[in-house]
Amino acid sequence: MRTTQINRRDWLKKGFLTFGAMTIVPSEMWSNTVINAQQNNRKFLYQNSVFDEFTPPKFPDLSTIKARLVWNENPYGPSKKAAKAFQEKVFEGNHYSWKSLGELVKKIATKEGVEPDQIMMGPGSSDLLEKTALVLFQNGGNVVSADPSYMSLVSVAKAFGGDWKAIKLTADYQHDLEAMEAAIDDQTKLVYITNPNNPTATLTDTKKLKDFCARVSEKVPVFIDEAYIELTDGDVANSMVSLVAEGKNVLISRTFSKIHGMAGLRIGYMMGATTLLEKIQEITRGGMGISGPTIAAAYTSIDDTEFLVSTKQKIVEARTYTTNFLKEMGIVPMPSETNFVIFPIDMDGNEFLEKIYDKKVVVRAFKFWDQNWCRVSIGTMDEMKIFTESISEILV
Ligand SMILES: Cc1ncc(COP(=O)(O)O)c(C=O)c1O
Repeated sequence: MRTTQINRRDWLKKGFLTFGAMTIVPSEMWSNTVINAQQNNRKFLYQNSVFDEFTPPKFPDLSTIKARLVWNENPYGPSKKAAKAFQEKVFEGNHYSWKSLGELVKKIATKEGVEPDQIMMGPGSSDLLEKTALVLFQNGGNVVSADPSYMSLVSVAKAFGGDWKAIKLTADYQHDLEAMEAAIDDQTKLVYITNPNNPTATLTDTKKLKDFCARVSEKVPVFIDEAYIELTDGDVANSMVSLVAEGKNVLISRTFSKIHGMAGLRIGYMMGATTLLEKIQEITRGGMGISGPTIAAAYTSIDDTEFLVSTKQKIVEARTYTTNFLKEMGIVPMPSETNFVIFPIDMDGNEFLEKIYDKKVVVRAFKFWDQNWCRVSIGTMDEMKIFTESISEILV
């Protein structure tokens, strides 16, 4: 029996108003969300038991923006080769794309060292996170994840009557694996780990996490969301994917939205135990939502090493510039292994956003652990210079 009865409208409302969903909604929809929050006199755009997101007083028209640093997008993508492959495929738009999807799955399987039937595709990894939650939490239960963490999966689990056991990160901003393991009970349906984590940008120690996943997955499935893994110092060596080949009860999601710069083209994948994937695919379909041109772009992008390497270099360079600048101002950001940085701000979040929007820079502001924070995505060096100049004027 489902523990909470919800209707579709409520589900859409709840599902939309999540930290996760808002990370990717287009600006028009975003503006409507902001307007809605303001009309209801809300100080926060989104709130849950562990963190709040400040409501931007007035979200600026994106066409006037000088630095778009709000949704952790990659300013360099998609690669030119991927864009060309996309364009060429448009002319086959009358056909379903099953064949090319199958070819892409085989290519990913070879690259990741897993079997094709250990892969499920989706129009972005959000889709796969949400479908996993939709299937696993049909009858309630609880999900164990970090405080704070990415909310797409957790929000859907909650909307379906699941409980969220939020476990605060350790003092050095890693997942508190011991506390997470201790929180598992007979109602736990899933442990969800975002590595590196969003919104903190921090990576949990690879060896410790692998041991944890191998041990804990004997009791409950473990989901590792690796949206930013390619941007970490060790790259995919920090991935938990070897556990899939070892037949562990884990799920691992990846996306083409970040390092491949294809957030608007919508494609991602999930790898894991076939029993779990079969259960999820019994009532949902992943690949059906992906367009043929996007499949072609992803297929091409995987091989565009030159683009991937130079993108990472530029992001790391601009990230280092940004964190050094903040440190020189006496602000200590959390150590980032992603294309965003989060740092404390000693100012009301709404006042801060109002000031930075006036400078035509868009970022996010949150409150958690009794502290206000700014999360800034890493754009081009030019954008980061506009950002640091703005910050030095605002946070004097
Ligand atoms: C941790 C994390 N997971 C998943 C996603 C979803 O990405 P997409 O649906 O574009 O693949 C994001 C987006 O920002 C993210 O930060």
